[in-house]
Amino acid sequence: MLNIGIIGAGRIGKVHLQSISYHVKNAAVVAMADPFMNEETKALIESMGVKKIYKDYHQILEDPQIDAVLVCSSTDTHAAISIEAIKAGKHVFCEKPVDHSLEKIQEVADVLAEHPECRFQVGFNRRFDHNFAAVRRAYDEGKIGEAHILKITSRDPEPPNPAYIKVSGGMFLDMTIHDFDMACFLTNSDVEEVYVQSAVLVDPAIGEQGDVDTAIITLKMKNGALAVIDNSRRAAYGYDQRAELFGSKGMVATSNDTLSSAVISDANGVTGEKPLFFFLERYMESFSEEMRQFVDACEKGTPVPVGIHAGMQAVKIGLAAKKSVAEHRPVRLDE
Ligand SMILES: NC(=O)c1ccc[n+]([C@@H]2O[C@H](COP(=O)([O-])OP(=O)(O)OC[C@H]3O[C@@H](n4cnc5c(N)ncnc54)[C@H](O)[C@@H]3O)[C@@H](O)[C@H]2O)c1
Repeated sequence: MLNIGIIGAGRIGKVHLQSISYHVKNAAVVAMADPFMNEETKALIESMGVKKIYKDYHQILEDPQIDAVLVCSSTDTHAAISIEAIKAGKHVFCEKPVDHSLEKIQEVADVLAEHPECRFQVGFNRRFDHNFAAVRRAYDEGKIGEAHILKITSRDPEPPNPAYIKVSGGMFLDMTIHDFDMACFLTNSDVEEVYVQSAVLVDPAIGEQGDVDTAIITLKMKNGALAVIDNSRRAAYGYDQRAELFGSKGMVATSNDTLSSAVISDANGVTGEKPLFFFLERYMESFSEEMRQFVDACEKGTPVPVGIHAGMQAVKIGLAAKKSVAEHRPVRLDE
């Protein structure tokens, strides 16, 4: 049984608490820490049987009974807490992004290199989504042949509060970062070059924060494949999350998940369900699966499915995308 401490009891910290408690057999959340925890959150955590509730995460790091920590605090704290946790001898699951600065991610990588016994996983949960995992499986099984074109559609149902843009690093680092990771995962390749066309079409307040809310991104992958990602901060019909991989021998494509597959035909037409509302609905099972695989890697000492290289790549591509917008040109990742 792996004993886990969760650092950060916000939205994603609670998701992991619930998925471990309900869906991961060989792990238990024994502690949670958050300096700004309110009574409602505390009650929820207690109701899940967690006995150690702290304001200061150092109490988790100092606890010899805790084997692994999940870093679910705000992004600007991830790198420093991860480094402390690795040095304290804990396995670490770090939410995405590891940091907005490549230098800080490199610092984490350097500390990890000194602690090969540490399992360090990054929270790119979409790799564990049943649809996207099936696309990659088809590719691995040779059914698609060589990858030529990847298309990713990724549109949120509603834009964030414009104030969030300041802390999130903007659309490419908070939202598209998952799609960048997905492009690498589905083509099994790193990225060589990025070019972005973007606009503010959803909310002028996002533009006033210096960000964009709509984008077409083209990626040249290192293995020769081409990828295109289309993003919008608002799709009127819900969370639109699809992928299509086309190659020398065939094509694999996924559609959105819906609450049911019922299609109603009447005198007005034929209608089906909208896509599931947002990431908590669509990706809930993927959060459980990423935890099961993290726990297995910690218990068996096997490699984690998403390591620091993936964490670094996605941020590199995000920063290159921002540069492409600023300078209106394709940007190579090795610039
Ligand atoms: N994988 C995903 O799909 C996904 C989804 C949502 C969020 N995230 C990531 O998870 C992180 C948290 O996002 P969120 O939506 O849960 O935000 P949130 O604001 O709801 O929660 C963050 C929590 O961290 C706490 N915190 C801040 N500093 C802390 C510290 N030093 N020690 C302990 N707790 C601290 C805050 O009090 C807050 O409760 C972000 O980096 C975000 O990018 C990932």
